[in-house]
Amino acid sequence: MRHFLTTADWDRAELQALLDDAVDLKKSPFQDRLNGKSIALVFFNPSLRTRSSFDIGAHQLGAHAVVLEPGKGSWPIEFEMGTVMDGHAEEHVREAARVLSRYCDLIAVRAFPDFKDWSVDRQDRVIKSFARHATVPVINMETITHPCQELALMLAIQERLGKPDGKKFLLTWTYHPKPLNTAVANSGLLIASKFGMDVTLLCPNEDYLLDERYLNLAREYTSSQGQNLTITHDIDEAYDGAHVVYAKSWGALPYFGRWEEEKPIRDAHKHFIVDSEKMARTDDGLFSHCLPCRRNVKVTDEVIDSEASLVIEEAENRLHVQKALMSALAP
Ligand code: CP
Repeated sequence: MRHFLTTADWDRAELQALLDDAVDLKKSPFQDRLNGKSIALVFFNPSLRTRSSFDIGAHQLGAHAVVLEPGKGSWPIEFEMGTVMDGHAEEHVREAARVLSRYCDLIAVRAFPDFKDWSVDRQDRVIKSFARHATVPVINMETITHPCQELALMLAIQERLGKPDGKKFLLTWTYHPKPLNTAVANSGLLIASKFGMDVTLLCPNEDYLLDERYLNLAREYTSSQGQNLTITHDIDEAYDGAHVVYAKSWGALPYFGRWEEEKPIRDAHKHFIVDSEKMARTDDGLFSHCLPCRRNVKVTDEVIDSEASLVIEEAENRLHVQKALMSALAP
């Protein structure tokens, strides 16, 4: 049984097949591919795009989606094996995943990190527990990576640029008042490098480097296709000649659980905002962001509203790529 937990488990040709099918689905949105099937959408965190695009996408293919929010409209779930469940959780993932598997053909899960200890969060325990106990395929709707966002981004890039090979992809850290998940940044690295782009990671200093797991994968993917992963803290150098600028904010991994110590460092780098002056250094570069996005904090109005901005196209593509994914995975 195939899950979609991370694109690292899928090769480029398999991911391209999903993108090609998404293009067909974009042209013919209403099909009966999933007639009578069901998907459980399990949200431990809020969402606008993911929730609506999966729900509507399932409907457009003839399937039914049920949204569950453990701890709100459904029971809080325990993930520790062998534990005495005398705390807050009312049921164990071992039952929850198996019961949902009897009702549904697919289970999709959103579970952000706890932001206390990266060595724990990087184990991705919630979605891996669902995958271990479920008897149907499990889809990652964002945990410590965001693979559906990766597909939507790559489709948007291909729609504007054609073949991405050799094009310069800049992933830039941006300021945000709160420490955010590294998931989309990890994913930006994974998908751009897997599709043969020349990748640059721009961040304020070494504390903002992403987990070695994703840096190493990006190095492996780029070098196997004659490209490079460049890490820099120099804004001008990073933007020079870029074809795609992908913006995201994230909290520094060494400061997990000590965010009051990280805040002054983050606050000192508000100038990482994506603006027209920086975009002028690119090679007619495109701009994108996964959304939601704080305007005039991460990117100026002028850039996000410009012709170069992919944000709405990328968000729309979530619908099409996820329909391709559900079609490919549903038994
Ligand atoms: N990009 C994204 O996943 O958006 P939501 O958090 O609104 O689902």
